Amino acid sequence: MFLRFLLPWIVCCSTGYVIAASPKEEATTAPPALQALADFPIGVAVPIDPWPNSLLKSSGRQALVERDFGSLTAENGMKMAYLRPAPGVFFFLYADALVAWAKQHGKVVHGHTLVWHKQLPEWLTKMEGDAETFRGLLQRHIRTVAGHFAGELVSWDVVNEAFTDDTPSTYRDTVWYRNIGPAYLELAYREARAADPHAELYYNDYDISGAIGPQKLGRILEMVDDFLARQVPIDGIGFQMHIDTDRPTLAQMREAFGKVVRRGLKVRISELDVSVNQDKKYPTLTPALEALQKQRYADVVRTYLETVPPKLRGGITVWGLTDGDSWIPGFKNRADWPLLFDAEYHAKPALDGFAEGLQSVQRP
Ligand code: G3I
Repeated sequence: MFLRFLLPWIVCCSTGYVIAASPKEEATTAPPALQALADFPIGVAVPIDPWPNSLLKSSGRQALVERDFGSLTAENGMKMAYLRPAPGVFFFLYADALVAWAKQHGKVVHGHTLVWHKQLPEWLTKMEGDAETFRGLLQRHIRTVAGHFAGELVSWDVVNEAFTDDTPSTYRDTVWYRNIGPAYLELAYREARAADPHAELYYNDYDISGAIGPQKLGRILEMVDDFLARQVPIDGIGFQMHIDTDRPTLAQMREAFGKVVRRGLKVRISELDVSVNQDKKYPTLTPALEALQKQRYADVVRTYLETVPPKLRGGITVWGLTDGDSWIPGFKNRADWPLLFDAEYHAKPALDGFAEGLQSVQRP
């Protein structure tokens, strides 16, 4: 009995949520924590040190992360620009701190990203050399970074965004493609597996769940089929899903996830956020937009559960914790509120939508 009276206060204090219940009232339950509703990782991308909004510097952020999420991704801090300040230097201090925090709090960490054409160190963008030089550089980077974190991370985005949005989609003209040719892809996956045999290896890309048509995913799947035929290691596809409330349609998502599932590969929704102001019409987030966004989160999560069987669910990660952290306003030059918490750390209806989505399909 005593415990029953105390419970609302315990829940409130341990979750960071303010719930309107006094000990005399009927016990009011806090909204269920997302991770508790899923048998696969529910993740969030977070800034790490030395960014001013680092998870490691903010008890407010930590309280939200502790409660709702089981998986963490460094939004920027494991990209090459930050791990490789100089050609011969690997700098792991801040990334290690995230991994240590995650371990201490029972969270897993997904690595993002070993190979990309953006956020490269300046010295690399100015480097000249032959194919062998760049192959050696890529090999050393993957061996050292994936080797450093071996046993600590559950998965890696090995290569990010290697194909173009054109019809037909083709290899993106990157420093890696220009200097090594298409073979850099296979090299990256083989090196990653050798350096960390237990981490799941993903290919990650945007607009492949239908928004710009199926041709880009088709090109990626050609690579996957070739890898599978030749035993080049790959475990799954990361669908970034920086989406809005209309596109892609749920049918397009289903079709795209299904193509990966049919190959026996895992599907991660790796960078989910739901824009509500793509036409720059709104100066503030209105209740109507919040409701639309809530529904959209619920629909996306439900579609994932309906289409991806339990053993192929690599997880769902949202790309940022609060609307104040989101990359979208800066990149798209508009106000927007795409995430689950507002800039003051309050849960938005979107969080309930995500939870509803997770509860919409019976757990096995
Ligand atoms: O670190 C510098 C800082 O020294 C400088 O003063 C400041 C001035 O603008 O810029 C800082 O760098 C910024 C960096 O984030 C770290 O904060 C860059 O300008 C900014 O462009 C960069 O944005 C990141 C973006 O990737 C880079 O393309 C976003 O935070 C990050 O959310 C975004 O994440 C990507 C995924 O990795 C891949 N998929 C798409 C996704 C969204 O674009």
